[in-house]
Amino acid sequence: MENKQPDFLDLLLEAHIDLERQGPGSREAVEKALGFLGDLSRFENIADLGCGTGGQTLILAEYLKGKIIGLDMFPAFSEKLNKRASEKNLGDRVKGIVGNMENLPFEKNSLDLIWSEGAVDNIGFEKGLSHWRGFLKEGGYAAVTCPSWLTKEHPAEAKQFWTDAGSQLDIVEDNIKIMQNLGYQFTAAFALNEECWTENYFYPREQAINKLIEKYDNCDTVREYAAINRREVELYRKYKRNYGYVFYIGRAV
Ligand SMILES: C[S@@+](CC[C@H](N)C(=O)[O-])C[C@H]1O[C@@H](n2cnc3c(N)ncnc32)[C@H](O)[C@@H]1O
Repeated sequence: MENKQPDFLDLLLEAHIDLERQGPGSREAVEKALGFLGDLSRFENIADLGCGTGGQTLILAEYLKGKIIGLDMFPAFSEKLNKRASEKNLGDRVKGIVGNMENLPFEKNSLDLIWSEGAVDNIGFEKGLSHWRGFLKEGGYAAVTCPSWLTKEHPAEAKQFWTDAGSQLDIVEDNIKIMQNLGYQFTAAFALNEECWTENYFYPREQAINKLIEKYDNCDTVREYAAINRREVELYRKYKRNYGYVFYIGRAV
């Protein structure tokens, strides 16, 4: 048992730092999205925004031979990406940096590809894609996942949960229109499957949280943190027909 009582941020970081990924997704989804981008050998400069510890960044590095910058607001996550990259001898072309997706540290018109999984909703789909558009070269691509409504029905308790988490969900058609209005030619959109949420994210996260419950002797904060995570899982089970993560791919024109 630890003496120091953790706050929510401590718990979030501790629960996620050793996971393969920090949100829903999969290798198959990365490969499927890459399949829409044409000749991958021309991508020289790539940014993975809100990269977490870099689960998808390292998959991208298998397929793309250019330089990949993974950007995340949490130093612990970008450090972990750097550690993982050097273990795979990728340190010369995969680099984790600390930064803010709302104020990118890149040169304008310099990127061939902006990748972002599970992160853009933190700043808003439109705001994110609008800011990011200026950093893409003409003909460059954005490939991002964002939680979205999959049906016209938007159950109130699911909507409330996402609002409380700071995300506003839109329907897929509206997000596609937003992309087009921002100067992206729409390429593709597809929803992530259930395994991306359950096997790849919820189950490993639950195990990590159980360890924290033990470590912090079931203190109030850890119980509250565990309850919020459980609620997210319950709501997903109940409403997975209504919402999901959708991969949106567009080309800067
Ligand atoms: C749900 S996680 C997804 C991580 C990873 N892309 C994945 O799919 O496994 C969202 C990530 O976005 C990062 N993030 C949220 N807001 C950010 C911001 N404004 N700037 C940079 N990173 C941010 C978080 O730190 C977190 O690592």
